Amino acid sequence: MPGHKRHAFGYLPFDYSSIDFTEVEGLDDLHNPSGIIHEAQKYAAAQLGADETYFLVNGSTAGILAAVSACTDKGGKLILSRNCHRSAYNAMYLRDLSPAYVFPKLSGSPAITDVVTAEEVRRVLDENPDAQAVLIVSPTYEGRLADVRQIAAAVHEKGIPLIVDEAHGAHLSFTERSRADAIRCGADIAVQSLHKTLPAPTQTSVISVKGDLVCREKLRRFLSIYQSSSPSYPLMSMIDGCIRFMAEKRELVPRFHDNFENLLKRLEVCDKLVFRPSASELHSQTADYGKLLICTEKTGMSGVKAAALLREKYKIETEMACPGFVLAMFTVCDDEEGFDRVAKALISLDKDLQGDEASSGFLLSERDLPMPALRMKPSEAMDMQAEYVPAGESEGRICSGMISMYPPGTPLIAPGEEITGKHLDFIVRCMDEGYNIKGIGNKGIPVVKNG
Ligand SMILES: Cc1ncc(COP(=O)(O)O)c(C=O)c1O
Repeated sequence: MPGHKRHAFGYLPFDYSSIDFTEVEGLDDLHNPSGIIHEAQKYAAAQLGADETYFLVNGSTAGILAAVSACTDKGGKLILSRNCHRSAYNAMYLRDLSPAYVFPKLSGSPAITDVVTAEEVRRVLDENPDAQAVLIVSPTYEGRLADVRQIAAAVHEKGIPLIVDEAHGAHLSFTERSRADAIRCGADIAVQSLHKTLPAPTQTSVISVKGDLVCREKLRRFLSIYQSSSPSYPLMSMIDGCIRFMAEKRELVPRFHDNFENLLKRLEVCDKLVFRPSASELHSQTADYGKLLICTEKTGMSGVKAAALLREKYKIETEMACPGFVLAMFTVCDDEEGFDRVAKALISLDKDLQGDEASSGFLLSERDLPMPALRMKPSEAMDMQAEYVPAGESEGRICSGMISMYPPGTPLIAPGEEITGKHLDFIVRCMDEGYNIKGIGNKGIPVVKNG
C-alpha cells in the first residue's frame, strides 16, 4: 500500500503519488512516533512554544474532539463558549457531556459577536464547580482576539485545563507583535488549522499541549481514535513543511501586517460601507490581522447581496456573508496586487451604493435572541427518537439536532434546547433573506418525539 505503487495515472499526478507512502521502514508511525515524525513534531513544538505538538490530518475538527475528550470524563461537564465550532458539540455528544455556556457579548459599532471575557468565564466557573475543562474560541471567525492570559489565570485557579480553539489563529504563532498565540498566553491545549491562515493544504492542523494539567496518554489515545490509522504522508509532510517555511520566512508576517494596515487606511475614504477593524481599532490588540468585516448595515444592502456583487462584478470571493456584513480573509499569501484589487473594489462599491435606504433592523433581532433553555443533555436529545415538524409548529419543543447559520456554523439552537418563538422568527427571516441555515430540511425541524 498505497495501491498506486507511486506511479502516475491519468487522474493521479506523479507529484502526489511519489510522496504518498504508508508506515514502511524508516517512515515512522503517526500513532506511535519515534523517528522522522517524532522529530518533525518536536521541531513543531519548539516553534510553537509547546511541550508537545501532534500533527492532525483531519483538521482541527479531530483536534477539538480529542482535546475535549482527553480533558473530561465520560458524562462530565464542559464549560464552553457558545460560539464554538460544531466539533465541540460533537465532542460533547461522543463523551456524553453536560454543557455550561459562556456567552460572547456583542461589541463595537456595527455590533459583532465578540470573544468571551475572563470575567464571564470566572462567573460560569463559580456556578459550575464540577466543570472539568473550559473551551473557548480565539481568534473568532470574525477576527476578535480573547484575553487568553486572563482567562487562563481564571481557569487555572480552579485547577482545570483551558483548551483554546485557535483554528483561525495559526499565524499568531509566527508573529512578533503583541498578539501572542494561545500557548504562549497560558493555554493548556491549542488547536490550530494551518490550512486556514497559513500556506498549507486543507485538513492540515496541529494540536499543542503545555503544562501538566492534560493527561498526554489520554490525549494520544483519543487522537488515535479520531484520526485515520492510515494518515496521509503528503499531508503530514506539508504540516512539517509549512511550519519550517513560516519559521524561516518570518519577514512574511510584518509585510503582511503592513499590507493589511495600508488597506484599512485606504478604506477610510468610504462613507457608506463600514469596516471592522478600522485602522485605529487594529491597534487595540483585540483585533486580528487578516479578517476584514465589510459592514453593510448603513447601506440597506444585505451581506449576501454585497458578497454576490463582490463576486460577480469585482471577481472577489469572500469568506462568508452574514446579516449585516461580509467577511473577507487575507493571509501572508496575498500579495500587494491582491490587496490593491480589494481596496479598489471596495472603494468603487462604496461609491455605487445609495446609502440612504433604511437599515433592515435585522441585526437588532439577532441581538435580542435569548439563550434557549437547556431541557436535556445534548447526547440524550440526539439519541432519543426524533420527529420532524414544520418550523411554525416547533415552538416549545426540544430540538434534537443543531440549527446553525453557516458559515460560521455556531448554533442558534443546540440539541437538548427548547425552541422559542424568537429563535423561530430569526431563523425564518434568515432563510427568507437567503442565508444558509443548517439543520432544517424539507421535512422541518428535528425535535425529540414526545419531548
Ligand atoms: C472556530 C473553528 N474551529 C474549528 C474548525 C474546524 O477546523 P478544520 O476545518 O481544520 O477541521 C473551524 C472550521 O471552520 C472553525 O471555524
